[in-house]
Amino acid sequence: MTDLIAALNAPVADRGTGPVRTGTPVSRVDGRAKVTGQAKYAAEHPAADLAYGVVVSSPVAKGRIVSIDARAALAVAGVIEVITHLNRPKIRSFDIAYKDMTAPAGAPFRPFYDDRVFYSGQPVALVVADTFEAARYAASLVELEFETEPFSTKLSANLDRAYKPKPLKAGFEPPPSEKGDFDQAYAAAPVKMDAEFYSGVEHHNPMEMFASTVIRGDDGHLTIYDKTQSSQNSRWYVSHVFGLSKNKVTVRNPYVGGAFGSGLRPQYQLTLAVMAALHLKRSVRVVLTRQQMFTFGHRPETLQRVKLAADSDGTLRAIYHQAIAETSQVEDYVEVVVNWSGLLYACDNIKFDYKVVKLDQYTPIDMRAPGAAHGVHALEIAMDELAYELKMDPLALRLKNYTDKSPADDKPYSSKELRACYALASEKFGWADRPLEPRSMREGTELIGWGMATGVWDAMTMFARASAVLHADGRLVVSSAATDIGTGTYTVMAMIAAEALGLPLEDVTFQLGDSTLPVAPIEGGSSHVSTVGSAVIGACQKLQKTLLKHAQKLTDSPFAKAKMKDVEFVDGQLRLKREPSTAVALTALLNDSGVVRLEEKFLMLPNMLKQRKFRRMVHSAVFVEVRVDEETGTVRVMRVTTAVAAGKIMNLKTATSQVTGGIVWGISQALHEESYTDHQFGRFMNHNLAEYHVPVNADIHAMDVIFANEEDYIVSKLGAKGVGEIGIVGVAAAISNAIWHATGKRLRSTPMTPDKVLLGEP
Ligand code: MOS
Repeated sequence: MTDLIAALNAPVADRGTGPVRTGTPVSRVDGRAKVTGQAKYAAEHPAADLAYGVVVSSPVAKGRIVSIDARAALAVAGVIEVITHLNRPKIRSFDIAYKDMTAPAGAPFRPFYDDRVFYSGQPVALVVADTFEAARYAASLVELEFETEPFSTKLSANLDRAYKPKPLKAGFEPPPSEKGDFDQAYAAAPVKMDAEFYSGVEHHNPMEMFASTVIRGDDGHLTIYDKTQSSQNSRWYVSHVFGLSKNKVTVRNPYVGGAFGSGLRPQYQLTLAVMAALHLKRSVRVVLTRQQMFTFGHRPETLQRVKLAADSDGTLRAIYHQAIAETSQVEDYVEVVVNWSGLLYACDNIKFDYKVVKLDQYTPIDMRAPGAAHGVHALEIAMDELAYELKMDPLALRLKNYTDKSPADDKPYSSKELRACYALASEKFGWADRPLEPRSMREGTELIGWGMATGVWDAMTMFARASAVLHADGRLVVSSAATDIGTGTYTVMAMIAAEALGLPLEDVTFQLGDSTLPVAPIEGGSSHVSTVGSAVIGACQKLQKTLLKHAQKLTDSPFAKAKMKDVEFVDGQLRLKREPSTAVALTALLNDSGVVRLEEKFLMLPNMLKQRKFRRMVHSAVFVEVRVDEETGTVRVMRVTTAVAAGKIMNLKTATSQVTGGIVWGISQALHEESYTDHQFGRFMNHNLAEYHVPVNADIHAMDVIFANEEDYIVSKLGAKGVGEIGIVGVAAAISNAIWHATGKRLRSTPMTPDKVLLGEP
C-alpha cells in the first residue's frame, strides 16, 4: 500500500486546496499516478524469481482431450512446467463447492478439472517458464488431440430448448407474474404493434487484460494482484477453491484498467496462476492475450418480442415483453431483460416471459447495464413504433403514460425526476422543432433524423464497512475494500470524507483495493457511491461526534453545551455555527487530548424495511440526431443530449465522465460492436480489436450530459443513487428511432450496420 499512498498524497495542482463540496466537479485524485505510470496494474507488480504462465486454449468447442504432447514445449530453454488436468495439483474443492460470490445457479467452470472440453477457447494447458517469451513460444508447441462431439452455438436453432431459469443470483429479480389480462386487452385495443428484436453477443474488452500476479512469500503467504471488481471476492474464491485460510491469502486491486462487469467474477487466469504458484512453490504471473479476452463471459445473444397496444389517444392498454437468451451448459446465467417494461409506463395489463437456452459456450456475464442495455432497447423502439401508429410525437406518448407508481407492483418510486429529464434534455436538444414525418429533413446527400428514448436502471444499495482515521498531523485516512475500475471511487470517497470533516482534499486519502480492508461489496450495479459512500459518511460522522466530545473536555470549553447540530467542520476546524470565530483546529484537539490516531468504524446496512416499500430506480431521457447517407448506408451520430436523474451527484466531473462513457458505448452497441460466431467451429472469429469494431474519436461527435435535480434519502444517506450504468441505457434505441425518422427504415437488431441501413432489413 505504501507506494499507493505516496502517489495519492503527492501534491498535485488539480487536487485543489481549500474546502471540498460534493456535487462540484473535481478531477480524479488518482489521475497523476495513472498518467505518470506510478499506478501499477495487475500484471505490473514485480516479484523476485517470478515465473510466467501462458494459457493454451482449446480450438474445439466440445469433446475430450485425448492426448497432450508437451515434449517440444518442455524442451524450450527456460520452460519449467506444462500444467494440465493430468498433472495439476490436487485442489481441495474442485469436487465440492466452487462458487464465487456472484456465481449464477449451476456448477461453475473448473479449469483443468478433467479431460472434458465444453467451449471453444477453454483453457487446457498452462506453460510456465522463467520468461514470458519462452512461455509464449513454448505454448505454441503444445500438441493437443481431441475427440470431438456435436455441439451447437446458435441461439436461433435451439429455441425449442428454451426454459425458465432458476433465479439464484443476487440482483436478479424474476419477471413478475401477469398483471391484468394482457391477451384480452391487446385484442380489444384499437392501436397496436408487435415486433421482434435481436441483439448479438458483445464483449467487454477493457484496456487492461485479465491478469493475476501471485507473489509467494517465504512463509507461503500469497499476495495476489488480480484484475477484479472485488479483491474480497477473489480472496474468498481462492480460499475456498484451494483450501487456504483467510490469513494465507491477500488479494489487491488498487488500480483496475476498466472492467464493465467482466471482473464481477474471478476469471480463469486467477485459478491457473494460483494453481501454478502452489504447484511450483514460486511466484507466478498469468496474463491473458487480447484473443483470450474473448474466451470468458460476454453479453448474451438475446431474442426479444414486444407487443404494445393503446387507445387512440395514446393511453397504453397492454404490454408484453418476452426474451430468450443464451446461457452455458453448466450455469443458468440470468439477467433482468423484460422487467423494465413493467417499471416505466402506466399500464393495467402486463405480461412477461423470460427464458434461457443452453449453448456450447462459456457462461455469459454481466456487462454494463446487464439486461437493460438490450431490454430497454427493445421496449423503447417499440414505444417509437407505437407512437407512429398513433401519429403521435414519441415524447408526447411517454408523457401521456407517465406514472408516479411502478406499474408492475404499484409501489411509489423513492424518487423519479424523469419528467424533469424529458423537459431538460428535449429543451436543450430543440426537440419541439421536430417534424413528425420520417424523411423530412435532408442536407446534401444526407438524411437527418431525430430520435429519443427513455433510460432506466436500478438504484441499488448493499452493505459495507468503512474505517476513518484522523491522525494528529491532520491527515485523514479512510478505507474500505472497495474498487475503482476507473469510475472515480478514490476521488468521490475522498470528497465525501473531506467535506464531512472540513479538510482540504489533499489531506484526505481513501484506501481501497485490498482484501484486508473493511468489507465492501463488489463494484457493480452502480451501487458503490450509495453503498461505500454511505459507510464513509457514517464513519466520518462518528469522528465528528468524538471530536466534539474532545472539544467539550477542553478547559473552559466554549463547546461545553454544544450539540452536533450547533457545530460545523470547516477549514480544518471545529467551530460554532452561530459564532464561527469560536473555533478549534482538529490537530490542536487531537494534540491537546494526547491522541495520535483517532479511529471510527461504521457498518452501512441498507434499511430494507423502509426501502422495500419503494421502487428505487435511476432514470434518463436521451435525444439524438443522426445523419444517414442512403447511398453508402453510413450513420453518423451528430448530437446526443441526455438528462439523468440519479439522486445527488457527488462529483459532477466523474459523474459526467461515467455518463459520457455510457453514451459512447451506446453508440458502439448501436452501430459498431458485432461478434461473429462461426457455428462450424463454435468460435468467435473476430476476436481482436481490429475486427471487433469499437468507435474511435472520429465516430463520436457532440455529447451533452445534464443532471436533473434529485436527492434520494431512501436509497442512501448521501441522497445519491449511482451513475455507472444508466448512461448506456436507451442510447442505441434513440439512435434506431432517429434512423427511422431519417429514413423511414425500422431497424430492430444491433449493430445497425450499413448493409441493414441500405436494405432496410430490421
Ligand atoms: Mo456492472 S455490469 O454491475 O460491473
